[in-house]
Amino acid sequence: MDFAIYAPGERRVRILDSTLREGEQTPGVVFSEEWRVRIAKALSDIGVGMIEVGDPNVAPDIKSAIKKIVQLKKEGAIQSEIVVHSRAVKQDLETAASLEPDRVAVFYGVSDVHLKYKHRKTREEALSVIADMVSLVKSHGVSVRFTAEDASRADLDYLVQVVKVARGAGADRVSIADTVGVFTPERAREYFSKVRAAVPDVGLDIHAHNDFGMAVANSLAAVEGGADVVHTTVNGLGERAGITPLQVFAAAYYYHKGVKLVKLEKLPEITAMVEAATGITLMPTFPVSGENAFTHKAGVHQAGVLSNPETYEPIPPEVVGRARDFSLDKYSGRKAVQHRLERLGVSVPPDVVDKVVEEVKRSNVPRLRDEDLLEILERVTNMKFKAIVNRHIEAFVWLKVANNVYTTSVARRVAALKNVVSVSEITGDYDVVVKVVAENAEELNRVIENIREIKGVAATLTSLVLKELPVNSHTI
Ligand code: COA
Ligand code: ZN
Repeated sequence: MDFAIYAPGERRVRILDSTLREGEQTPGVVFSEEWRVRIAKALSDIGVGMIEVGDPNVAPDIKSAIKKIVQLKKEGAIQSEIVVHSRAVKQDLETAASLEPDRVAVFYGVSDVHLKYKHRKTREEALSVIADMVSLVKSHGVSVRFTAEDASRADLDYLVQVVKVARGAGADRVSIADTVGVFTPERAREYFSKVRAAVPDVGLDIHAHNDFGMAVANSLAAVEGGADVVHTTVNGLGERAGITPLQVFAAAYYYHKGVKLVKLEKLPEITAMVEAATGITLMPTFPVSGENAFTHKAGVHQAGVLSNPETYEPIPPEVVGRARDFSLDKYSGRKAVQHRLERLGVSVPPDVVDKVVEEVKRSNVPRLRDEDLLEILERVTNMKFKAIVNRHIEAFVWLKVANNVYTTSVARRVAALKNVVSVSEITGDYDVVVKVVAENAEELNRVIENIREIKGVAATLTSLVLKELPVNSHTI
């Protein structure tokens, strides 16, 4: 991974993404095989170290999708380590191992409450189950991670014993799970430091639930205590309040440690992909990936950012593939309004800016669009800033690409056609969007026909551009 830079001797930290396992434990979420494969490939492409793909004993479709992903790994289409999840049950583990993943993760509750009410086992009995089940998987020649479920509520000395037993039985990694999200950063650091000191030769994972909104902070503290793999899901999916969101942890890690654990600039793509796959969209204030994460509203903030973005941004939005935006309404001041008008190609003297701001403050519109601002400007100046009606016909043609065909190969062929001015591969319901400029309707129809004839184009949708916002220069 050339994008992760570490100081000499520093422990290399990796992400394990569990969108396909923990993420599918989100109420209302099921992934089709097609989405599972697309998400696994995208996670591999952005540089996630490990992908937890599911528990094959849960349902037959999960089992067959795991087989497919393991096959893609063997063919080199996926680079990340493939991890299969399973209870500490002999038959379940044998099924998991038979799929030949890189690693099987065996989980077992280790807090007294889990031992008593779930497993109905004493602490001693649990140690022998853990030893037996870890060695069973190991005997199939697969790497093993043992997950100490509910570890954050377990007695710390007992947890150390558990880790030693799992290590002794052949697990080279142990996940310390904060199953109900009750770690604080101090406690997470303490648990990890103690386990790390007692068992130096084991890899440690942090699996942090977000019940009290502390999953990212607890994961960061766990790394400081000795964890070297951090569990995440895209968009923070998972049981109840979910787990550490990939986007937020990766961005926070970059800010605090100066290390890019994944290709940060590609995060918006995977965010949109998982939103499309789950039908769950992020709230606007969601850190890093929410719509508002880099949008400034208050006039004081906007003026500050226009002077130097550092005043109100922890990291430049481009680092995580985002763009800065300004939201205009009654909270805006002169600097923000003037800046927006200039962006629209209109230079205005200070007294006109003052009048526009006055009108903006009276408008009480929640979010002024560019058209609204131009309308106010028209009223204030008695001049016209009409939207430009195109002389040519312009259209966007959206394409769906057949499952068995590479999107890029279709996109390249479309790009070679006459009258095509831009081609973008996109996420969502369609795979490619094409901008076409034609002299007349006949010519446009011909271009669309040519696109449809390309092998692999499964469906098209055309929308005509009616008008564009004015971007030509006006000076008053
Ligand atoms: N190792 C071994 N057994 C475990 C366990 C573990 N880590 N965690 C729970 N169990 C046991 C429980 O004690 C209970 O056993 P019991 O029936 O003897 O009381 C059983 O697993 C869970 O109950 P139930 O769901 O009714 O069992 P089931 O045999 O019908 O189904 C699954 C088991 C795993 C197939 C089913 O629960 C499922 O599809 N779960 C989805 C995956 C999941 O729960 N993952 C949790 C990840 S943290
Ligand atoms: Zn979990």
